[in-house]
Amino acid sequence: MDAKSITITKPDDWHVHLRDGEMLKQIAGYTARQFGRAIIMPNLATPVTTVAMAAAYRDRILKATQDYSRFQPLMTAYLTDTIDVQELVNGHKEGVFTAAKLYPANATTNSAAGVSDIKKIYPVLEAMQKIGMPLLVHGEVVSHEIDIFDREAVFIEQIMEPLLKDMPELKVVFEHITTQDAADFVESQSNHMAATITVHHLQINRNDMLVGGIKPHLYCLPVAKREQHRLALRKAATSGSGKFFLGTDTAPHAIGDKESACGCAGIFSAPHALENYLQVFEEEGALDQFEAFASLNGPTFYGLPVNNQKITLEKVSQQVPLMIGQKSLAISPYKADKTLSWRLKVNAKNI
Ligand code: NCD
Ligand code: ZN
Repeated sequence: MDAKSITITKPDDWHVHLRDGEMLKQIAGYTARQFGRAIIMPNLATPVTTVAMAAAYRDRILKATQDYSRFQPLMTAYLTDTIDVQELVNGHKEGVFTAAKLYPANATTNSAAGVSDIKKIYPVLEAMQKIGMPLLVHGEVVSHEIDIFDREAVFIEQIMEPLLKDMPELKVVFEHITTQDAADFVESQSNHMAATITVHHLQINRNDMLVGGIKPHLYCLPVAKREQHRLALRKAATSGSGKFFLGTDTAPHAIGDKESACGCAGIFSAPHALENYLQVFEEEGALDQFEAFASLNGPTFYGLPVNNQKITLEKVSQQVPLMIGQKSLAISPYKADKTLSWRLKVNAKNI
């Protein structure tokens, strides 16, 4: 019999871009409405590199999400070649930095200040290993000679494998994996390694982005790959393995910045993330694995308690708006104007 509704422990989103200023105010509620906690990415125009910056940013997020008073932003530090080890360790001890994010320099949006050579931050990574602070990795090499569709697979070989050999106890999240190579690699590692999977990489392949006209709103980094990889990700997410968990990588950009001669990378999936993930689990005949992926595996990996609230999704169709937000900040949400078959039931208990 087809499920009509599903109730699970409230999920968390382990990879979110909330931006700052007016954009933050406009979009933060969409994440806070669906999730108990979210890992907040530090790639603001001025990267979040100090405890004070992260604490101030956390306050701005809490203000922007005050309608959802239980929502908890979990902050991250942006690793640079010159990041101060002591600052990082102090921030983790004080409970401000949940984790630290590694962007290879120039890999993606606001990553110019990222790490130019991983060896330069080995002392930092060793300190993180010692205190059990997770390293979150944007796993793409940036060398010009490497094809964009191969950048994740080459990263595994050139950076990830040697790193894990050198630091076997370091907790690492391979963020937004997009390939069969990454899914297989993560599965083969110890329980110090896990991965987030976005909903769009479970639902779209590169044809969806490129065939019949370019769809700038489906362009993100790491870029969607061929069908074989999408199928491997669906298998990994629904397999029941504790190594894979929900991370939307929701990354809003104003429409003008997406529909441009040099369009920005990022998909704004926050408004209906859970409905879309659930659709995938239903299609895969794996509704019984949804709660583990969305609500249990992440906290287990991070060493945090699971949320004690519940949420319910109902089999009620809804249409995604064509646009969200106003004027120069208007955004085209993921699946704009499409009809979804599930709907998150929002009541006082969600808040
Ligand atoms: C992200 C952004 O816009 O900040 N973009 C994206 O395509 N995912 C950065 C990132 O996570 O790569
Ligand atoms: Zn991201």
